[in-house]
Amino acid sequence: MLRTLRCRLLGTADIARWRNAEAFDHEWRERTLLIAQLVPKGARVVEFGAGKRTLESHLDPSCTYIPSDLVSRGPDTLVLDLNTRPLRDLRKLKLDVAVFAGVVEYISAPRSFVAWLSQQVKVCIASYECARTRPKTLGRVRETIRRTGAGWVNTFTEEELIELFCSAGFTLAQTSDWHTMDGSERIFVFQSSHSDPALSERVEALAQEIAGTDTSAEIQELARSVAKAQIDLC
Ligand SMILES: C[S@@+](CC[C@H](N)C(=O)[O-])C[C@H]1O[C@@H](n2cnc3c(N)ncnc32)[C@H](O)[C@@H]1O
Repeated sequence: MLRTLRCRLLGTADIARWRNAEAFDHEWRERTLLIAQLVPKGARVVEFGAGKRTLESHLDPSCTYIPSDLVSRGPDTLVLDLNTRPLRDLRKLKLDVAVFAGVVEYISAPRSFVAWLSQQVKVCIASYECARTRPKTLGRVRETIRRTGAGWVNTFTEEELIELFCSAGFTLAQTSDWHTMDGSERIFVFQSSHSDPALSERVEALAQEIAGTDTSAEIQELARSVAKAQIDLC
């Protein structure tokens, strides 16, 4: 609990806890198998918090797998702490899909993380143990304390989590549920609207329409910015 509080306050990762992947819970394997079914064929997949790399052997053979974690999980690991800033630009790796199985709960500055992620991948598949209480309530304070006890450094309901990803230009495409003896945990598939050519085209067409019908220079300038930035409609 004290270690998590320190991580939460300092925004750091608990490397000592995660060093030995062999000690990880076998139950998590089932979650990874569900996630593997959600990954499109032919995708270049990065798994953040790869742990035992269970995903690697369950992807379609047409996929390319890139493991990433806080510590090395093999010589090809992209060693990356998702709690450091600035986060490294991975665009040269031409990644399609990012997978997070039991990892988002450990990210201490989620807003800047999703903003970065939306620039790196087209699809994000993430499990998340959603909070059940409303923000700014006594229940939320208690729930946050319980979550801190489990080592988790953020607290979002399903709606808050979806809003978080939408704020960075993702839309929710699909969900799947992982059922365990203790309950169930949702797996979310988010798609970046930055990468949707149809959406970009629609935004551009709309911007041109506005520019063609309004004489106000300010609105025309705004329309040009809309077309340029291809703002997301999330
Ligand atoms: C609960 S384990 C899940 C492991 C694996 N994804 C699975 O489901 O079997 C959490 C994983 O996230 C990684 N992790 C925790 N904090 C992290 C951080 N700040 N940056 C990157 N990875 C982190 C840990 O090293 C660990 O591999």
